[in-house]
Amino acid sequence: MARIFDKSWQRTKLCGQFTESDAGQEVRANGWVRARRDLGGIIFIEVWDWTGPIQVVFNPEAGEIHEQAARLRNEFCVAVKGKMRIRPEGTDNPELKTGNIEIVASDFLVMSKAKPLPFEVGDATDSVDENIRLKYRYLDMRREKMQYNLRTRAKINAFTRQYLGERDFVELETPMLTKATPEGARDYLVPSRVNQGCFYALPQSPQLFKQILMISGFDRYYQIARCFRDEDLRADRQPEFTQVDIEMSYIVEDDIMNLIEGYMKGLFKLIRGVDIPTPFIRMPYWEAMDRFGSDKPDLRVKLELCDLADAFRDSGFEPFRKILEAGGVVRGLRLPGGAALSRKEIMDLEARAIKLGTSGLANFLYKEGGLKGPLVKFLKPEDLEKVKELGKMQPDDALFIVAHASRQKACEILGTLRLELGKAREDLFDNSPDNWKFLWVTKFPLFEWSAEEKRWEAMHHPFTSPSLDNETPFDEDPANASARAYDCVLNGNEVGGGSIRIHDPEVQARLFKCLGITPEDAKRRFGFFIDALSYGTPPHGGLALGVDRLVMLLCGGNSIRDVMAFPKTQKAQCLMSGAPDAVEQERLDELAIQVVADE
Ligand code: AMO
Repeated sequence: MARIFDKSWQRTKLCGQFTESDAGQEVRANGWVRARRDLGGIIFIEVWDWTGPIQVVFNPEAGEIHEQAARLRNEFCVAVKGKMRIRPEGTDNPELKTGNIEIVASDFLVMSKAKPLPFEVGDATDSVDENIRLKYRYLDMRREKMQYNLRTRAKINAFTRQYLGERDFVELETPMLTKATPEGARDYLVPSRVNQGCFYALPQSPQLFKQILMISGFDRYYQIARCFRDEDLRADRQPEFTQVDIEMSYIVEDDIMNLIEGYMKGLFKLIRGVDIPTPFIRMPYWEAMDRFGSDKPDLRVKLELCDLADAFRDSGFEPFRKILEAGGVVRGLRLPGGAALSRKEIMDLEARAIKLGTSGLANFLYKEGGLKGPLVKFLKPEDLEKVKELGKMQPDDALFIVAHASRQKACEILGTLRLELGKAREDLFDNSPDNWKFLWVTKFPLFEWSAEEKRWEAMHHPFTSPSLDNETPFDEDPANASARAYDCVLNGNEVGGGSIRIHDPEVQARLFKCLGITPEDAKRRFGFFIDALSYGTPPHGGLALGVDRLVMLLCGGNSIRDVMAFPKTQKAQCLMSGAPDAVEQERLDELAIQVVADE
């Protein structure tokens, strides 16, 4: 009779959960074969599942099963029966949880064989080419690290549901086949068969639906929501990703921030066992830009930018003076000990800055008792003193300077150098695993100018409320209008973003107007929403956390692909399933779609 897997083969415990107390017992283990060794006729294998390995011994006296064991290969899926024993003296492995016990096999069953493997699943390193890992994702996910990451992800989702559930948040699902919601990326479109020529958009976020739920009286909503954005991908971006999407009625900014701080506190305790300090620092957008050159500053890096305008405003260095007169800025970045950099290192740094969008990177080196550098001869002694003072320069420091017509651009360039220079030095960057630096970046500009489109665009999204303390109405001075928007930033990553929304249809109409959206266009694109706004909308606001980024950070990783079961490549492809793919002509005909071949 063929031997098949039945109850009599079912594991008595998970492999990694056997302990010394099982010694002397008849036990059964199920799992994958790894690390087969043959020592003087005795065959050892490890049988693995997600809890780890248990060693199994096949003695030559075991006859037929010993011969079969000799033919086992890695990743065969097997069931083993035998007696557990304490390992003979001197053969235990203190590195394994089960390193002092082993099963002496009395019988075993190969439940399925494995073809020759594209890579060694038991290899703990990440040395395998990522494309191979993605193609054979099922094998990749058998690896301990991926098991840990994805199980941690599930734990985080469970915590999210518990935390928000306990606080009266209602979990509601919103449609996947929907109308476009603008979040700044392209939409993925889905053609409709029954309404030929019409397309659904996959949601970039549930933004409009969650706001409508506020109008409907679900005053605390959340969803672990899948979002789709057709944008350029990076290590922290995927075309489909997951948000913890939250919205609340009758609130102000503090309510959301308190809620999220409590959530993070609980989450970091649960997953990392650490107490993170709350409340988080709150920093207006322009302070973050001026000091750190980023709207998602990594506060682990101990470098700050400075404003050097006062040293150059009346100076003899004309190019900088002119930039300042025209409304531009002169900003600096001090590098402690930087005076020791070589000429080549300084030139490389300048080349890097030029690549980032400035015409040059000036420098001062504080050595031999004074400032040295190409600009020294243009400055009066008192201006040199000001450079030292404003740059907080100490002997042996370097100061790198960008003068630029745009404050934003100057800050961003120095912000990038700040990260690159800082992260390269242990004394300037504390990279220890539980160094968590959270902050809220607040008061974002309401609009940003699109040079390409020659019009204002919403910096967050067009449903974000203008700040209450804008001096002039937002539509009279769009360049200086700020928004009731906030981002939650962790170690240089934007892990969440949200805002207090517009709840007045008249303000919403004015905002669309600023964005160059005509009333007809607004009606066509968001008519349903504007209509809903005019039926007694409570003041409301919310935020969405990027689950993938949060899980990545909690798992100590640096790519969100490593915390998603089936991620896509940089070219938005699934290497395992082969998506996206061409479809049969018949399907296209049903949808009345014609594909024009790309030359
Ligand atoms: P936002 O566009 O800022 O806001 O997105 C919220 C958070 O989602 C994460 N995120 C991403 N993660 C992975 N891949 C991507 N392509 C990607 N894009 C965004 C980030 C980000 O902070 N509807 C608003 C939220 C609101 O206003 O309530 C929204 O979607 O961590």
